Amino acid sequence: MTQRLYIETFGCQMNERDSEIMAQLLGEHSYVQTNKPELADVVVVNTCSIRGKAAHKAYSCFGRYKKLKEKHHDFILAVTGCVAQQDGTALLERMPYIDIVMGPQSIYTLPSLVAEARRSKKPQVATELSADFVIPPFLPNLAESTPHKRFITIMQGCDNFCTYCVVPYTRGREISRSFTDILGEATHLVAQGVKEITLIGQNVNSYGKKGDAAQNKSFPELLRAVAGIDGLQRLRFTSSHPKDLSEELMRCFAEIPVLCPHFHLPVQSGSNRILERMNRKYTIEAYLDKAARLREYRPDIALTTDIIVGFPGETEEDFAATMQVVETVRYHGSYSFKYSDRPNAKAADFPDKVAEAVKSERLARLQVRQEEIALELKQAEIGKSVEVMVEGASKAPANQWSGRTGGNQIVNFSCDRKLVPGDLLMVEIESACQNSLRGKMI
Ligand code: SAH
Ligand code: SF4
Ligand code: F3S
Repeated sequence: MTQRLYIETFGCQMNERDSEIMAQLLGEHSYVQTNKPELADVVVVNTCSIRGKAAHKAYSCFGRYKKLKEKHHDFILAVTGCVAQQDGTALLERMPYIDIVMGPQSIYTLPSLVAEARRSKKPQVATELSADFVIPPFLPNLAESTPHKRFITIMQGCDNFCTYCVVPYTRGREISRSFTDILGEATHLVAQGVKEITLIGQNVNSYGKKGDAAQNKSFPELLRAVAGIDGLQRLRFTSSHPKDLSEELMRCFAEIPVLCPHFHLPVQSGSNRILERMNRKYTIEAYLDKAARLREYRPDIALTTDIIVGFPGETEEDFAATMQVVETVRYHGSYSFKYSDRPNAKAADFPDKVAEAVKSERLARLQVRQEEIALELKQAEIGKSVEVMVEGASKAPANQWSGRTGGNQIVNFSCDRKLVPGDLLMVEIESACQNSLRGKMI
């Protein structure tokens, strides 16, 4: 009998991809997805724990699903992802109505855990994190929908232990996925009509360093292999650690035509003192040098970043150094956050915490300046012709479409022709606003 599945996903692309995998696995056991949780037989909440706020969001939604359980005696509530890994059985103590608590390494066992929870009427916990974990072979099934762009997970976990970060504890040791499996998945996707692939992992540019499955291939070698698949039109990747950005990877931007001119290079702070306390393993000088060299290889490359403000011990002078990096690099975009204490992360024990009001004020100052720069960079596109990949039709008015440039900027444009997501076309940019460009098809 067909059952209904509702998945709520928080957090990064790794979680988004894991949710797709879980949906496919349950799909193979006659589950169809619904967008109405009240109709679901199984609800999966795939959680994120990166900052206190993210974890809080997850916690606050469990209560809503409790009510569903009271109405439907066979209903299963599964909590997966990084909060599940981090809190494990403690989650069950606080919320005994949860049926399954499962960490990121266990997603492939979801169907059997659901069956066991139903059969035994007992909560199931799967939060082992093994250093010998092997990402199992898995081929996406696109039978129901063929989206034009897809993520491919190329690695799991992280060994960098930045002192603010929970990921090494929630995703476990860094492990590369099999080179053959990645290439197989990419080939399969392109054969089914996928035009754009994004290779994802916590630290993709260290691909191949951990785990035999990578078959001694480096990240640049993987990029070149995937780029060589006939029919692939755009290739992207995220996220990268500046310390692992090699000259060989930079060269890829000059030599691989389908590799999009966009690099997300999280800087976190502009102060060497803070970078050291964060355990980032690079200096700001080395970072800026790499950013400049990337632009030598690919002058039109769009750089984006992540920044933490108010890390313990951050002085006004340290923060000024971060503001200076924003001026120097001129990022096309940035994700910036107030520092947040996380369980297990070393910085939670640092004594010199920055006051909340100071963090808020610095974050606001940073974001105002970053937005000005991002707008200036968009305005500089006016009059240029750019290649856009169609994402879909705008809601209104008619003949309006939306797409993305190689640099990942949103472009809204008019075109009388019927387009489909994944089409590539040239658009002349006529105006710019904070979050998007506007133009007309050439
Ligand atoms: N692996 C990626 C980052 C994943 S987390 C990388 O290294 O680039 C995404 C971003 O969240 C980080 O880059 C950082 O800016 C932010 N972040 C992580 N932990 C945080 C914390 N405790 N407080 C505030 N921001 C945090
Ligand atoms: Fe976290 Fe640092 Fe690993 Fe990124 S590199 S996931 S910030 S520990
Ligand atoms: Fe969040 Fe886990 Fe991703 S903490 S950012 S879902 S790796």
